[in-house]
Amino acid sequence: MSATANNSDAYWMPYTANRDFKKNPRIIKGASGHYYTAADGSKIYDMFSGLWTCGIGHCHPKIVEAVQKQVAKLDYCMSFQLSNDIAFELAERVVDMAPDGFTNCFFTNSGSESVETALKIALGYHRARGEGNRTRLIGREKGYHGVNFGGMSVGGIVPNRKIFSANLIPGVDHLRHTYDLEKNAFSRGLPKHGLELADDLERLAQLHDGSNIAAVIVEPIAGSAGVLPPPAGYLEKLREICDRHGILLIFDEVITAFGRVGKGTAAERFGVTPDIITTAKGLTNGVIPMGGVLVQQHVYDAFMQGPEHMVELFHGYTYSGHPVAAAAGLATMDVYKEEGIFEQSAELESTFADILHSFDNHEKVIDVRNFGMMGSIELAPREGAPGARGLEIHKKCFWDEKLVVRNGMDALQFSPFLNSNVDEMQASFEGIRRVIDAVE
Ligand SMILES: Cc1ncc(COP(=O)(O)O)c(C=O)c1O
Repeated sequence: MSATANNSDAYWMPYTANRDFKKNPRIIKGASGHYYTAADGSKIYDMFSGLWTCGIGHCHPKIVEAVQKQVAKLDYCMSFQLSNDIAFELAERVVDMAPDGFTNCFFTNSGSESVETALKIALGYHRARGEGNRTRLIGREKGYHGVNFGGMSVGGIVPNRKIFSANLIPGVDHLRHTYDLEKNAFSRGLPKHGLELADDLERLAQLHDGSNIAAVIVEPIAGSAGVLPPPAGYLEKLREICDRHGILLIFDEVITAFGRVGKGTAAERFGVTPDIITTAKGLTNGVIPMGGVLVQQHVYDAFMQGPEHMVELFHGYTYSGHPVAAAAGLATMDVYKEEGIFEQSAELESTFADILHSFDNHEKVIDVRNFGMMGSIELAPREGAPGARGLEIHKKCFWDEKLVVRNGMDALQFSPFLNSNVDEMQASFEGIRRVIDAVE
């Protein structure tokens, strides 16, 4: 039976206003390329590439075929003490795509799990080197690192933390966020102001003594908070301070890896090399859930000591390196390369920026932010009802303009396909403009 207002009650939807949604469900039945097919058969242009996931487009024939073949050949094999051939191959391919120095990949099933894994690796790394006192973790306000307890604790989006406040893991501090409308509104690319905010890390190192800090984790570009590119020079400065104090730098690249900013990673794009990179989403183009944590050689090597019959890291998932996910991942890596997806993304970004910034002077718009193929148009909130205007635009875009536009409160977020057609992208933003004009 297809979902309707009457039969849609059993599914408790994630990050969704369930009661509002179920009054008039927005149900997708199919997808191909840059379009979804809705339950009523209409074609819907996807301006969010899934959920930052499907940069190549939906149902790419090469990925579909790889998954179909693999599931018939090897559906699953034990992931502890055994593995499958293609998980090894994929690890090598992903490591090749990362900046120099990255040698190993630990597979997970999601971005949240990648973050938990990275935090555990950071703690284990220091302990293995005889610095078990380094237990403190540093995140950043407005950061999003998934929904598990570690990621939530280093994360800094208030509604995500609010009801779990007493249960967040101890020993975590936060850098201040870099969101500053007064100084940086309507910046094209990296904002000019806010470099000094990176000094928060130095301040925390002075407060706790840097020798007690294990790692700092940041998204190179905060995504879920509404696309906040780092102030120019900020990531470089974090790297410097980490080096000074022996702190590991973790880039959470669940969104930014795999071409979203025109390169394999944001680390490469910014020329700042962290010690650990978390990935997910674009690893399989969203086709099968999978994440990967990339580590530099020195991190891996720190664990590879002691008796060889012993497990070096007591951590892993039943589905780590799942063969069907790995097949999707391998096919995705092939498509990235064969179709020059990262290059297409790099080429499109200035057109995307032009289109986005054509909203700079709109009376309802208070900021426009962009970097790579990530962007946000932030609307002024309605008095007394923050988020209401954003949600109304999301719904109107879907029903009236046949567009998927994500809103986080009143910030509309955009994650266009990395191989977008410029005419389609332009036409979609015309639709969005009509909706922004029309809503109260
Ligand atoms: C930077 C970042 N980290 C972690 C996550 C969590 O990923 P998942 O929803 O796959 O658990 C996300 C999801 O959007 C993310 O953007």
